[in-house]
Amino acid sequence: MMSQLRFLRKGRTILSTCLTDLFSKRFPSLSSTTFNITEWNFQNSTSYRFKQTEVTEEKKLSDIKKKTTDVKYEIRPMRKIDVPQGLDVWRETGMQEGTHSIYSWLKFDPHGFYVAVTNSGEVLGTCAAVINHDDLAFIGLYSVREKYRGLGIGSKIWNACLEHVGTRNLALNSAPGTLEMYRDKCAFPIVEDRWEILLNETDLNVSPANLSDQVPFGVRVQHCRESDLPLIYEFDFNLVGYKRDLVIKLTSQEQDTKTVVAIKDGECIGYGTIRKTCQGIGYVGPLYANDSSIAEVILRRLIVSAPEVKGLFIGTDSNNA
Ligand SMILES: CC(C)(COP(=O)(O)OP(=O)(O)OC[C@H]1O[C@@H](n2cnc3c(N)ncnc32)[C@H](O)[C@@H]1OP(=O)(O)O)[C@@H](O)C(=O)NCCC(=O)NCCS
Repeated sequence: MMSQLRFLRKGRTILSTCLTDLFSKRFPSLSSTTFNITEWNFQNSTSYRFKQTEVTEEKKLSDIKKKTTDVKYEIRPMRKIDVPQGLDVWRETGMQEGTHSIYSWLKFDPHGFYVAVTNSGEVLGTCAAVINHDDLAFIGLYSVREKYRGLGIGSKIWNACLEHVGTRNLALNSAPGTLEMYRDKCAFPIVEDRWEILLNETDLNVSPANLSDQVPFGVRVQHCRESDLPLIYEFDFNLVGYKRDLVIKLTSQEQDTKTVVAIKDGECIGYGTIRKTCQGIGYVGPLYANDSSIAEVILRRLIVSAPEVKGLFIGTDSNNA
């Protein structure tokens, strides 16, 4: 959920375009799918960036055999105990999420997560609207178990999240095939049609040997230690324009997660994180650096640092350099 914030400030030292090139050169066989991004402002409907949809195969609700239509449930804030089931609901969608990331984000914004849950404690659906700062929330994890879709459950969880968001700007990454729903039913306007995130994803092992390990003179690239975190906070602040210290700390210290930092003259000049996702794949993100050669080394070190995870997933922006 962190990487989406890249597009808040265009024109900074953000390497997404470089990374897109890097990926197509070094890993030509990785599949790329267009991902949809949207932003929403409740106060007026202008000044949002948007990207075009590329609809992939979408399951029709009519194709899904529902087992029940009279399920009893309540919508309530997500509790820590709901997290494994919530992650499982998300896993069912085939999309990626860190195995421990929900715990971190729940700590970051304990009032931002809602679930639909039965009396017996079965989680039917989830949605999260995390408030990043006073003017911006980010919505995600919006999913309902397949057999309970189309019963109004999703909309109710969504609305609970919207109450939490209030009048802040709201942003989201829409999964392939869902942009029309957000645009036509949730009032997210499309204001930019050239924005694309490419999803580079493979469940096959990716060889780090494809990537350079040549560290430029005077640069150290190392596993992040607690004492490196303040350097990352400063670098990240300069990148996105507001403080993300707590969430960087929480997410970089998650189980199944490795963070690598590049330091020059006592300053952070890049960092990246790899985590195991709920689908068992290595998810790289965020990955920022001042220079593409540094980004390449960080990426290599991240892959090397997580030999237990198979495959690779990274979203790269098409036009954010
Ligand atoms: C998206 C999803 C969570 C909706 O949950 P749901 O319980 O099926 O939604 P509802 O029953 O409340 O919605 C039914 C209708 O309202 C629309 N709808 C869903 N969420 C809505 C929302 N937040 N606001 C307005 N309309 C909404 C649906 O498109 C559907 O319209 P249709 O009947 O014309 O097809 C569910 O379909 C799902 O889990 N999809 C797979 C995961 C996914 O793609 N999530 C989005 C990630 S970006």
